[in-house]
Amino acid sequence: MNREVRLFRGEVFYFISSPLESKDSYCYYPDGALLVSDGKVADSGPYETLHARYPSVPETDYSGKLIMPGFIDSHIHYSQSEIIGMHGCQLLDWLNDYTYPAEQAFSSREHAEKTARFFIHELLKNGTTTCMAYATVHPESVDALFTIASEYDMCMLTGKVLMNRNAPKGLLDSTEKGEADTRRLIEKWHGKGRNRYVITPRFAITCTLDQLESVGRLHAEYPDTYIQTHLSENRDEIDSVLSLYPGHSDYLEVYERTGLMTDRTVFGHCIHLSKEECERLASAGATIAHCPTSNLFLGSGLFNMSLVNTFAIKTTLATDVAGGTSFSMFRTMGEAYKVQQLNGYPVSALELLYKCTLGSAKALHLEDKIGSFTPGSDADFIVVDYASTDSQQLRKEYLQRTNNWNIENKLFGLQILGDDRAITATYLIGKQVL
Ligand code: GUN
Ligand code: ZN
Repeated sequence: MNREVRLFRGEVFYFISSPLESKDSYCYYPDGALLVSDGKVADSGPYETLHARYPSVPETDYSGKLIMPGFIDSHIHYSQSEIIGMHGCQLLDWLNDYTYPAEQAFSSREHAEKTARFFIHELLKNGTTTCMAYATVHPESVDALFTIASEYDMCMLTGKVLMNRNAPKGLLDSTEKGEADTRRLIEKWHGKGRNRYVITPRFAITCTLDQLESVGRLHAEYPDTYIQTHLSENRDEIDSVLSLYPGHSDYLEVYERTGLMTDRTVFGHCIHLSKEECERLASAGATIAHCPTSNLFLGSGLFNMSLVNTFAIKTTLATDVAGGTSFSMFRTMGEAYKVQQLNGYPVSALELLYKCTLGSAKALHLEDKIGSFTPGSDADFIVVDYASTDSQQLRKEYLQRTNNWNIENKLFGLQILGDDRAITATYLIGKQVL
């Protein structure tokens, strides 16, 4: 733990509630300050007030830059870091041609650790301070990611992928082995430091009914773990699920009947949902992780954000590397905006940012720890440069000249034009890690 007390000066921004529910959803101090003590947020407000309140505390000056909570990426595959940007196919072929071959290498602890180190560095470089990640079927892939995350004291949610059919032999477990490995990994890692375990059935195509039932049992046994899986990403995937699970009226029913539908479940994608499925997701309090760069890259479809909003389903934004094509949550928000433009819903900069900060933290039941600067939160924050490229600088000067350099235009510019170059510094529990 970092015992230091320090005041950080800059433009301080964080959400206190959803911009869909309240007009006063955020705190913004254009000349603000964040007080960090023992790795926790102790106070925030206007700089002059905080400087007067804590006159002898050492200060770091990020004036003109944005200080905000680190991003939360709620759906990402660390094991796919190497196969980002592979040409030419949609989901089921892409899994067979690129994903499954690459994931087999994670039987090697050395390969897993090397990739985990790259992955975490890439997240921090992009300002992502928490993620919910898929490992692979190999338990050592989970040990590797939790081990490296622990070195950084990073809040990491991950789990061993469960898959017992319809994939190469080197990636298959059995229901019994998958359950035993998962139980052992939960006991070893869940709640150790900032680590959280996610029970991870890949999706209904690669899990038998029996294996999905074992997930339901495991989660009932360890109710404060999480579940992550994929749902209704691609039309061929849906057809395949319905033929593998006769007697189910839709894809979601497969997960419901096996006990996977909980308020601690994160369903990736959810592009092709019926209204009935939306209603059931909402009433269960489950979360949808929307992954726009992946949905565009794999040609999966256009996620309907305004539809899921009308059902008040918890929705987060995520990269889904390596179906997704960027580790940057700025890029992800930018592509989410474009997808919604194609749906006739020009989503606001605030809604998009909420979905990868406080909105995600709430979906993961971690809002007392991450996602905002509420006093007592872990001091996971980033320092952001509004003008890290010439184009952003020119846009900024234009907006200043026309008296429109306000927070919504600042945030939207980052979402449309920003990437890792915008991240000046990343802090985990008050310590600069990048
Ligand atoms: N569905 C099942 N596995 C995967 C995966 O690895 N990536 C994506 N995008 N969808 C999946
Ligand atoms: Zn995925």
